[in-house]
Amino acid sequence: MGRKRSTEELPGRSPALERLQKFLARAGVASRRRGEELIRAGRVEVDGQVVTTLGVCIDPATAQVKVDGQPVHLPTKWRTVMLHKPAGYVTTMADPQGRRQVTDLLAGQSERLFPVGRLDYDATGLLLLTNDGELAHRLMHPRYKVAKTYRVTVGGRFEETARARLLAGVELDGRPAAAVQVQILQSTTDRSVIEMTIREGRYHQVKRMLGQVGFAVLKLKRIAYGPLRLGRLAPGAWRDLSPQELAALAQAVGLDRNR
Ligand code: URA
Repeated sequence: MGRKRSTEELPGRSPALERLQKFLARAGVASRRRGEELIRAGRVEVDGQVVTTLGVCIDPATAQVKVDGQPVHLPTKWRTVMLHKPAGYVTTMADPQGRRQVTDLLAGQSERLFPVGRLDYDATGLLLLTNDGELAHRLMHPRYKVAKTYRVTVGGRFEETARARLLAGVELDGRPAAAVQVQILQSTTDRSVIEMTIREGRYHQVKRMLGQVGFAVLKLKRIAYGPLRLGRLAPGAWRDLSPQELAALAQAVGLDRNR
């Protein structure tokens, strides 16, 4: 690995320059946030120098960027797929405990596709993976309020009072979190099944919101993401999005698909 690039050497910003983490996301290496983690971990080199600070800007046309010693190039073709995540897989790109990763299920694809956001290890359902960093960034950003719908099995009888509380909003991390839609599909003394839609993606959000109204989550499956539905895709299976689905997704986050 090369010498460390110090902050004094950082180039300033000009229209042609781009933040390194944004470049890594556009290149399909990781989301912007995970790209920042790679940079902090000293795994990213620019023109032979290791970069460990986040302010660095590069010229994407000329910079030689490497991650873990491997050259990084902007994709010539964007690709986004839908996976039916089974339970027992992590959505992170590396797991200290060595658990299976969702990207193992897409082995053999030539593009480096990274997961759009998280689904818990024990959660199942619709997970998007893409090499389009800008699309991923917008889908995950709270500003775009992309709806995600979960089918959730909880312990005990779920009734109207709990539904109303979720819609009114509960407190998570000192600020409100509300569901935009809650449907009760089944309710018995033993267990209940609900469908719940939220427009944010905070850590363990559905489990924590249900915990706030007194319910433990037994099963959690994401069945819709923005305009997309999981449909009949089998657990562990994946498919490319159709042109219509891609157009709907881009439209949902105000992205020009022909950019
Ligand atoms: N909410 C959760 O609690 N877990 C998930 O995986 C997704 C949403």
